Amino acid sequence: MLRPPTAADIPAICRLVNDPLIAQFTAAIPYLYRPIEGWRFLAFCARLPETSFSAHFLLALRGSPRHIVGAAGFGPDPDGGVAIGYWIGGPYRRHGFAGEAARALAQRIFTASDAEQVVATVAFDNFNSQRVLKRAGLRRIGSCLRPFRHLRRRRPMIAVAITRKEWIRRKQPRPSSKI
Ligand SMILES: CC(C)(COP(=O)(O)OP(=O)(O)OC[C@H]1O[C@@H](n2cnc3c(N)ncnc32)[C@H](O)[C@@H]1OP(=O)(O)O)[C@@H](O)C(=O)NCCC(=O)NCCS
Repeated sequence: MLRPPTAADIPAICRLVNDPLIAQFTAAIPYLYRPIEGWRFLAFCARLPETSFSAHFLLALRGSPRHIVGAAGFGPDPDGGVAIGYWIGGPYRRHGFAGEAARALAQRIFTASDAEQVVATVAFDNFNSQRVLKRAGLRRIGSCLRPFRHLRRRRPMIAVAITRKEWIRRKQPRPSSKI
């Protein structure tokens, strides 16, 4: 499930997000991540305008909502559309959580806003996330360089997107070949 972060989550966020893999592949998450960064994240979430174009969530287990496995969110993309992002903690990878999160974010964006496109930028060498996004229906639309401040360099990224029309088409049941 997607739920807002609370102060009680800060120790678990710090434990999961202090991971070189997350530092390597996410542009906006500080590394090393200390409790003060957790408090800043909470304040950032609280300040977000109540629009359907930006929101940040923790990913928690449905039967045990205090148990977090990662985080996901979205915000306006400078080139148009709404951009999604996510990370999954090391012990929880390869359970389908990232795929479920990407689909849930896209569904929420297309249902609650009039955005025409959901986009993501993924590092050129982040093959796991590229597969997650491809399975969710996002297709390559270009490339760019993005600053990773904590690494003090820019990294080449692939931009992927799915339009509202494509999303709706994916949700239509396929016509049966027997008819
Ligand atoms: C990229 C990242 C988010 C993927 O998270 P994840 O939860 O492992 O992703 P998923 O489980 O949805 O999919 C990963 C693989 O597990 C497989 N999988 C899904 N459910 C599974 C299950 N129950 N059992 C075994 N494998 C499973 C998927 O089929 C997929 O296989 P593939 O890589 O061979 O295509 C994670 O590695 C991460 O946080 N990386 C660092 C941060 C990052 O890259 N963020 C994204 C920036 S764009």
